[in-house]
Amino acid sequence: MSLYQQTYQRWQQDPEAFWMEAAAALHWDSPFHQAREGNRWFPGGHFNTCYNALDRHVENGRAEQIALIYDSPLDHKQQKFTYRELLIKVACLAGKLQELGVRQGDRVLIYMPMVPETLMAMLACARLGAVHSVVFGGFASQELAARIHDAQPKLILTASCGLEPRRIVEYQPLLERALETNIPIMVLDRPQCAWHYRENHHRWGEGRAVAPARTLATDPLYILYTSGTTGIPKGIVRDHGGHAVALKWSMQHIYNISPGEVFWAASDMGWAVGHSYIVYGPLLHGCTTVLFEGKPVGTPDAGEFWRVIEEHRVVSLFTAPTAFRAIKKEDPQGTFLKRRDLTNFRALFLAGERLDPDTYHWASQLLEKPVVDHWWQTETGWPVASTCLGLDEEPGQPGSPGKTVPGYRVEILDERGQALPAGQEGAVALKLPLPPGNSPTLWNQDEKYHQVYLSQFPGYYNTGDGGYLGEDGHLFIMGRLDDVIIVAGHNLSTGSLEEALAGHPAVAECAVFAVKDDFKGQLPLGMVVLKAGQPETPQLHQELVQRVRDGVGAIACLKQVVVVERLPKTRSGKILRAALRKLADGVEFPIPPTIEDASVLDELRERLKSYSRR
Ligand code: COA
Ligand code: AMP
Repeated sequence: MSLYQQTYQRWQQDPEAFWMEAAAALHWDSPFHQAREGNRWFPGGHFNTCYNALDRHVENGRAEQIALIYDSPLDHKQQKFTYRELLIKVACLAGKLQELGVRQGDRVLIYMPMVPETLMAMLACARLGAVHSVVFGGFASQELAARIHDAQPKLILTASCGLEPRRIVEYQPLLERALETNIPIMVLDRPQCAWHYRENHHRWGEGRAVAPARTLATDPLYILYTSGTTGIPKGIVRDHGGHAVALKWSMQHIYNISPGEVFWAASDMGWAVGHSYIVYGPLLHGCTTVLFEGKPVGTPDAGEFWRVIEEHRVVSLFTAPTAFRAIKKEDPQGTFLKRRDLTNFRALFLAGERLDPDTYHWASQLLEKPVVDHWWQTETGWPVASTCLGLDEEPGQPGSPGKTVPGYRVEILDERGQALPAGQEGAVALKLPLPPGNSPTLWNQDEKYHQVYLSQFPGYYNTGDGGYLGEDGHLFIMGRLDDVIIVAGHNLSTGSLEEALAGHPAVAECAVFAVKDDFKGQLPLGMVVLKAGQPETPQLHQELVQRVRDGVGAIACLKQVVVVERLPKTRSGKILRAALRKLADGVEFPIPPTIEDASVLDELRERLKSYSRR
């Protein structure tokens, strides 16, 4: 039996004992009463995530080890912080937040770029027992407003700007457009752009160093909003204790990283990958984490990732397949890589979207190191399926994100919730209870959590993905079963995009759906029906695209809108987005039995012929 099989079996035999053993690797201010109560892990125990990510290492011999490397080709800057330095920064920032009135349980919204202060702000909130909610800097006012409205923050932390390769993203207009009430703001000034200070705006600062709060393991650490199918984002909640236990375990057993080694997640702190594997996972495990403000190509070239790996002695990189498709496109022969020494580098991890076999083979041949496709969601917070390198597994099957990780039981269900045999495609579901680290609810919305994730298949968490299990336990993910669109590994809701288009005065109704794209995996395409008498002009097209950029953000990548006479709907008025997707991709499909009028499909097929992919 392999180490992976033994470990999986050990978990299966006694899940609670398994996670209690993992919990012993961290510091508890007081012991928990039991391992699990319902979907809450380690109830009654006192546990502070910031203490475990910083103080614990300073007290145990890692004070002078580098905890954080900031590398910004966009700002032409590098900075390093030891665990001791990072602890002082975080403790003093926590003091400043306290001066500004932040108390345990308060929410703090963080709308910031990829700078060290963002990571410090997250840890400072954790130290105080305040709940942070980081909003990805690429989201614009509409998305920001929805998150502010739901989280009701006591304070907002921001910066004067973010940096993109061809432009400076000024945060002040985006934030002011999103704010309904006068919430205090603390601003990090960056030299590239000035902030206009008004009443209740404060400059970034430090206060008196504060000690970690006495938080319960089950207290919320953060809220991270993720896209659902509606325009209202879902507030994923992560707790202090279970989250830390799961992440620390994953660093060793999935990623095969030891304390003291350098781990790099080339993502953004605004996404789950950034929360788990730029900030919390590596620091909880005593590693050095790399915070990179740049792109895989164009900052300045397709050799940037190799430069960072060599220079900082990175042992593993985690990013999205799109980043590698971008490098492959610019430098198919890997000439930049050949100039670098990657002796320390051990493995590449990819997630967030489907890893196409071409990219998998290209990366494997070029790097001559394991390339690990793995699968998880914002909701789970850490991988559900992977090749567990730390359990001596080796990547086996291109096209599969590996086998089920200990802690999870994946089943493939049919529409009635019956388990399907190997090889048959269905809904990918996780048997309850879920392991530590998974979101136990949605922020202030227990009911909605139940309805979205647990109601369709009693006893299971419904992932929303379709897929199948191979005979040997490899999982294959075929894509979303709902209307969520995944662009370059970023999750977008059709509802938000439609809300932005529908706000245009000329639009009567609209639909947004995903079309296949070789580079970004999927791209959204807008389809609109105009109000009677409204002409279709080039200006209208421009305005519609701009509305999405201004409302949702440039990250949505909605570049084209097709004007049509009518949309395909069911008799009850629901838009048939799956049919639209197939029409746009040129895939043959049977006429949906629920369609109100099938002739609309022929009209749309004709119309889509004139639409050109990028
Ligand atoms: N703030 C403001 N705008 C942002 C932003 C941010 N944090 N991140 C991206 N944008 C903007 C970009 O500037 C771009 O704007 P443009 O239309 O004016 O050019 C737009 O959003 C689309 O960005 P992106 O999808 O990143 O495309 P790109 O063509 O600029 O870059 C890649 C392509 C491959 C380099 C990029 O998609 C990438 O690095 N992908 C990796 C994906 C990833 O890290 N996923 C996270 C999950 S692991
Ligand atoms: P997010 O919550 O943004 O991380 O998106 C999660 C979704 O991304 C999953 O439900 C999948 O649809 C998709 N996804 C993530 N990782 C993979 C992967 N390795 N292969 C295929 N799809 C993936």
